[in-house]
Amino acid sequence: MSWSPSSWRTKPVAQVPVYPDGEALARVEAKLKTYPPLVFAGEARNLKRDLAQVAEGRAFLMQGGDCAESFAEFHPDNIRDTFRVILQMAVVLTFAGAMPVVKVGRIAGQFAKPRSADTEVQDGVELPSYRGDIINAAPFDEASRRPEPERMIQAYGQAASTLNLIRAFAQGGYADLHNVHRWNLGFIAGSPAGDRYATLANRISETLEFMEACGITPDSAPQLRATEFFTSHEALLLGYEQAMTRIDSTTGDWYDTSAHMLWIGDRTRQLEGAHVEFARGIRNPIAVKCGPSLSNDDLIRLCDALNPSNEAGRLTLIARFGADKVEEHLPRLIRAVKREGRVVVWSCDPMHGNTVKSVSGLKTRPFDRVLKEVQTFFQVHRAEGTHAGGVHLELTGQNVTECTGGAAAITDADLSSRYHTHCDPRLNANQALELAFLVAEGIRAERVKAQRPAAAQ
Ligand code: PEP
Ligand code: CO
Repeated sequence: MSWSPSSWRTKPVAQVPVYPDGEALARVEAKLKTYPPLVFAGEARNLKRDLAQVAEGRAFLMQGGDCAESFAEFHPDNIRDTFRVILQMAVVLTFAGAMPVVKVGRIAGQFAKPRSADTEVQDGVELPSYRGDIINAAPFDEASRRPEPERMIQAYGQAASTLNLIRAFAQGGYADLHNVHRWNLGFIAGSPAGDRYATLANRISETLEFMEACGITPDSAPQLRATEFFTSHEALLLGYEQAMTRIDSTTGDWYDTSAHMLWIGDRTRQLEGAHVEFARGIRNPIAVKCGPSLSNDDLIRLCDALNPSNEAGRLTLIARFGADKVEEHLPRLIRAVKREGRVVVWSCDPMHGNTVKSVSGLKTRPFDRVLKEVQTFFQVHRAEGTHAGGVHLELTGQNVTECTGGAAAITDADLSSRYHTHCDPRLNANQALELAFLVAEGIRAERVKAQRPAAAQ
């Protein structure tokens, strides 16, 4: 049972490539080990404290960002736009859902991707699959697809400056609630979700004026002026994660300082595998993606391995079944967790079970399937008497055309016009905001049910 940051190396490891130059890999990992941590253990503990509130039904988790960050799309405007749409969604959920929202980005480190096949064939040529910019490059040629250790250094640098900008946005005035109108600039204004948001922003402004008249100002309530924003990514490339794992001098515990929260993907959650081994020893909040192949017993074993002391906020379970399967699988898992008395956050990823190939051959996600999975997630939790704790989304603040549907009615034929993702199709800002209003309704419905006397239910 002994654990060390490198004990995962004795276990079978899925989805991590073999680097052709082992010495170069070791050199890069050794160098990374000397780099400053990106986040502090105390911040990860703050997130755990907030997630404990979610686990206990008193808050909601809003996690979102790119499927895969890329070196090519690294630009301050992109970071700002993603940050902005997450803020907008959080405001909708806080105000319309009347519940504190824990904001976590899939950002500042979300570079490594699991793939369904190790290789890709085009016109009879077979090459290694693209695994994210931290590992190799997307163009279909031999040099691009070769795993290159130096990419880890570039990913670290990009994560560090992304995080620096996010910290500035969160604490430096951009996230001041008095700016609530300014987050709605650009192409969203004028859309149905944008109009709905503007109305809500007016009400927030009025509320702030009222509060100020009562003496509640940013000076007396700093949370009006700044926000807490946490980072997360899939802990896939374990050599990188190991290099970023350090002992916290305050507690003597190990933390992975590459992000506040790390998750294990649906393809790497084998109980005896390297990813579970790595995650069990770090004290950050951990999430596990739960797809249709996860059995009830294995889920409980994962809880045993990853959260043996049943600490609230430590473990988030992200259901990602697909709109047509969530009703079949989610209730059995919720019941198993309840029966065993495990405290978890239940979150809904309505993206990864709803990916389809469009007629044009591009991967897409029909927006109505995404909405349907979220709605069903809420319904199932209402029926089971458990808290629908959060959502996990692939989104961007850009005006992309990657998921079909939504108020702008993006069609199959529209997809190619602004299809920029390096991996999976993301919700654009409009679709994300539309979804936030739906989620807010779900949160309200849960509260109404909780407040009704039992006999009336
Ligand atoms: C992802 O979140 O990008 C992902 C690959 O998800 P999953 O592990 O659920 O398939
Ligand atoms: Co994805």
